[in-house]
Amino acid sequence: MNIGIIGTGYVGLVTGVCLAHIGHKVICVDMDKEKINQLKRGIVPIYEPGLEPLLKKYMRSKRLSFSLSIKEVTQKSTVLFIAVGTPSKKNGDADLSYVENVSRQIAAHMNSYKLIVEKSTVPAETGEKITRTIRLNLPRKYKQGKKASLDFDVASNPEFLREGSAVEDFMSPDRVVIGVQSKKAEELLREIYKPLKTKIIVTNMNSAELIKHASNSFLATKISFINALSRICDKVGADVLKIAEGMGLDKRIGRSFLDAGIGYGGSCFPKDVDAFIRLSEKSGYDFKLLQEVRRINEEQKQFFLKLIEDKLWILKNKTIGVLGLAFKPNTDDIRNAPSLDIISALQKEGAKIKAYDPQAMEKAKDVFHDVAFCKDPYALSKGCDCLLLLTEWDEFKSLNFTKIKNLMRHAIIFDGRNFYANQNMEELGFEYYGLGLGFNTEKSG
Ligand code: UGA
Repeated sequence: MNIGIIGTGYVGLVTGVCLAHIGHKVICVDMDKEKINQLKRGIVPIYEPGLEPLLKKYMRSKRLSFSLSIKEVTQKSTVLFIAVGTPSKKNGDADLSYVENVSRQIAAHMNSYKLIVEKSTVPAETGEKITRTIRLNLPRKYKQGKKASLDFDVASNPEFLREGSAVEDFMSPDRVVIGVQSKKAEELLREIYKPLKTKIIVTNMNSAELIKHASNSFLATKISFINALSRICDKVGADVLKIAEGMGLDKRIGRSFLDAGIGYGGSCFPKDVDAFIRLSEKSGYDFKLLQEVRRINEEQKQFFLKLIEDKLWILKNKTIGVLGLAFKPNTDDIRNAPSLDIISALQKEGAKIKAYDPQAMEKAKDVFHDVAFCKDPYALSKGCDCLLLLTEWDEFKSLNFTKIKNLMRHAIIFDGRNFYANQNMEELGFEYYGLGLGFNTEKSG
């Protein structure tokens, strides 16, 4: 099928490449000239495992191409996926101006039947707004009062891709959700996803949009639940890792998203929880549970900072080494990463920050100021009063801790992801603090 993808961010690019991989002819469009020029040369502007080889392969076989023209992509495609950003506004609402803008542009260039699919995460009722926007902006010859003489459909098809494993998530999804208004739209989307051989949930657009917001919010709730529990663990001397294991073996609960730490970040959970709270407010429901999920997430970072301050006492002129800046491993994305708040709070207290991340340093250099970026964890450790583990990259598991200990001024580790909890860091000669592991109680001195 001929498919157009509008927006080549994480979601659009992965979707475009993977749709080419399962047999479709795909054109990806973006208004960012530099990005499109890079992509045309086979350069992927993000770090996403497995993406670049596939992109190069399907560019070579001409199943995948890139363009700056929405007109071209609209006229050459039957199905158009909107995958542009929906950032948070100051009041927490999702900013849908890019979605609206793209819808208008698609409408203006339509010359035959099109199925317009929203892929970006959007609040319920956005599909209805897109439908109206398209009808209003069709070329004059296709407009007849409240009706359009040109047939088109709008559908919702939310993505459930995790950064860092997005290609794998696309190819082996737990489910595909499609929200449609017509049989024709359903059939087209079923055909697109047929090669994936997965369960397809068909519903209306509002329900599909809500499935996405509800899924992300529920996962965020699991994280805040375990983080709240980790605080009790610190007070009563219990081990949050064993608790997560004990709870997670119950199939009704499941072990995933029960890793306590410095909380969730990234371009999705914080934004989507905010947008879902706003959507609820507007619909007349006060979603206190989600407000609490958000509060616990913020508090978790404060608690971590308090722990550091408690143990280092005066932060001014202390040298703190940060292992990991990305909001999670296997990505170079630092949007809403806990490292942003944690580093800026420590700098405010006068601490000197050194940092290392396997992939995110290029992006971090544009965002962080007065941070000494180091070439590896050993250069990072040199002269540090403590280390903070903020992202659980695999390569941090097998470090030479004897060497690190000898390089540091004081061998203290604050582990924001409980990554070394099973590694007996005390035996290796470190003063070690995790979150909810039952041995650094809040009252300890
Ligand atoms: C999330 C969802 O998992 C995807 O299904 C969804 O498609 C995507 O948002 C989106 O809406 O586009 P992502 O943000 O890439 O994916 O990453 P996650 O793996 O969900 O992690 C989110 C944050 O939660 C990270 O900061 C991670 O460190 C944190 N986390 C995750 C925890 O603190 N504890 C856990 O147990 C799991």
